[in-house]
Amino acid sequence: MNSAGRLDVAVVGAGRVGPVLGAALRTAGHRVTGITARTRQAAERVEALLPDVPWIEPEDAFTADLVLLAVPDDVLGPLVTGLAPNVRPGQLVVHTCGLHGLGVLEPAARHGALTLALHPAMTFTGTSLDLQRLVGAAVAVTTPPVLAPVADALVREWGATPVAVADADRAVYHAALAHGSNHLVTLVAQALDAARAAVGQDAERVLRPLLQAALDNALREGDAALTGPVARGDAGTVATHLRVLGDLDPATAATYARLARVGADRAQAAGRLTPTAAAAVRTELTAGEP
Ligand SMILES: NC(=O)c1ccc[n+]([C@@H]2O[C@H](COP(=O)([O-])OP(=O)(O)OC[C@H]3O[C@@H](n4cnc5c(N)ncnc54)[C@H](OP(=O)(O)O)[C@@H]3O)[C@@H](O)[C@H]2O)c1
Repeated sequence: MNSAGRLDVAVVGAGRVGPVLGAALRTAGHRVTGITARTRQAAERVEALLPDVPWIEPEDAFTADLVLLAVPDDVLGPLVTGLAPNVRPGQLVVHTCGLHGLGVLEPAARHGALTLALHPAMTFTGTSLDLQRLVGAAVAVTTPPVLAPVADALVREWGATPVAVADADRAVYHAALAHGSNHLVTLVAQALDAARAAVGQDAERVLRPLLQAALDNALREGDAALTGPVARGDAGTVATHLRVLGDLDPATAATYARLARVGADRAQAAGRLTPTAAAAVRTELTAGEP
């Protein structure tokens, strides 16, 4: 660390996340001393986001004050175990995985590393677009209490907002994000395919304002934002939907049926749908389910 509190940072992993967070740290005044890159695609990302930063081997990262590990979730544990003997006591070792907390960094901690788990709740493209999206995004922070101020300072330097997540809660935190963001993509892709069957190239134009409003309402109001045939108890409409979707794509019909059933259960539990209306919807779902 230099006299201004700026850190030498090395990045392991030049996928979608590593070069972007490296660039964010550099913008904040830290010095990125090296990044690992193994493929042409990785090299292109480094060239675009960290142009003059040398390529290094993972072992060489441990000369830096802060080592940022941005590798696939399943690679992280074995990588940390393998690299731990290179750790210098007092060195910051950070990973960006949502699922794991501090346990996966334990081999490095045993060699004296100060460990942080910082997961940006954002989807990355590996381009400078992500730098703008980081501003205002939440970052899940799991760290020993003594390091919380360090973690918060790093996250705020990215323009993001730190949110503490207990080590034991990391898995459910990550499952919630994956369920919301990843499955939303699958759902929207199915809706686009079905809409194209009716309105062709206008599908995106038709869906975008509706889906954006539905997402906004759901984030503000939760189950109370539900509208449509399930929320109204229009069992006949549900039956027709299942039939036409089944003709188009049985997988889409199955997704519709599963979500409609959960929607009916939650609407009934919230007192928005009477037990009779909910039962009528369930009957049609059972009859029409592919
Ligand atoms: N993508 C997102 O939107 C996002 C958002 C928040 C957090 N994260 C988390 O950030 C981490 C990285 O995600 P990512 O999307 O950047 O993954 P990614 O695009 O798959 O990139 C992973 C990088 O790690 C490298 N790598 C793999 N095994 C390695 C090893 N043994 N030694 C050194 N480098 C190795 C890969 O190199 P090769 O290509 O040569 O294998 C690749 O450059 C993950 O834990 C992920 O959960 C991702």
